[in-house]
Amino acid sequence: MGYRVAVVGATGNVGREMLNILEEVEFPVDRIHAIASRKSIGVEVSFGEKIVKCEDVEQFDFSTVDLVLMSVSGSFSKIWSPKIGEAGPIVIDNSSAFRMDPDVPLIVPEVNPDDVEWADRKNIIANPNCSTAQLVVALKPLHDRARIKRVVVSTYQSVSGAGKEGMDELWDQTKGVFVLGAPEPKKFPKQIAFNVIPFIGAFNDEAIPMKKPRCGMKPTR
Ligand SMILES: NC(=O)c1ccc[n+]([C@@H]2O[C@H](COP(=O)([O-])OP(=O)(O)OC[C@H]3O[C@@H](n4cnc5c(N)ncnc54)[C@H](OP(=O)(O)O)[C@@H]3O)[C@@H](O)[C@H]2O)c1
Repeated sequence: MGYRVAVVGATGNVGREMLNILEEVEFPVDRIHAIASRKSIGVEVSFGEKIVKCEDVEQFDFSTVDLVLMSVSGSFSKIWSPKIGEAGPIVIDNSSAFRMDPDVPLIVPEVNPDDVEWADRKNIIANPNCSTAQLVVALKPLHDRARIKRVVVSTYQSVSGAGKEGMDELWDQTKGVFVLGAPEPKKFPKQIAFNVIPFIGAFNDEAIPMKKPRCGMKPTR
């Protein structure tokens, strides 16, 4: 017997890939639902050889499924994942919304699969962002042998991390550069075509250079 699965955000970059991978790894799926916003009702997405029509998140009865793969924004997930979890299924959330919630396990299957045992607190499982997920798989065996105290990481994020709007902006600007000039940036603060921007998401406390010394280091200003 398989699972009844809903992919929320099924028209997005990540949602479409989730559908591909479920099919590719032959995950035991009894029923699949593609869920997105109202404007995508009836939009067709692929699930292997099959075509699935998108349903509206507002209309969908989540008590009829076992697993929900959530791949919308953090703000959307904050509202919807707890509601869906209460309706019965386990939500696996791909956004940042619950990564720091002490009642939600943050799981990378190769690292801490056993934490799934307490996922029933809110019926939500979080996963880390893509840079972290692959990094901790490599760090785990090192950590097991000799405790890691500190890791210094620099990441370079692809445009696809900004969703399909980000990828469309890169595509349109790239074409524009060679023809009539690049269109004005909307998704990114500066032109992204043929460019690298030292900025992602929004500035927060961690992005501000240190004012006080921490860990014996000198302040940067
Ligand atoms: N963990 C990771 O490794 C990782 C990697 C990349 C991205 N992410 C996260 O995954 C999430 C999705 O990223 P993405 O790149 O797939 O974004 P995207 O391409 O912009 O897709 C967004 C999806 O959300 C749906 N959506 C937006 N507003 C909605 C609403 N009000 N109601 C229902 N559905 C709505 C869209 O449906 P419509 O087409 O109907 O608008 C679309 O299917 C983000 O939180 C992102 O940060 C995580």
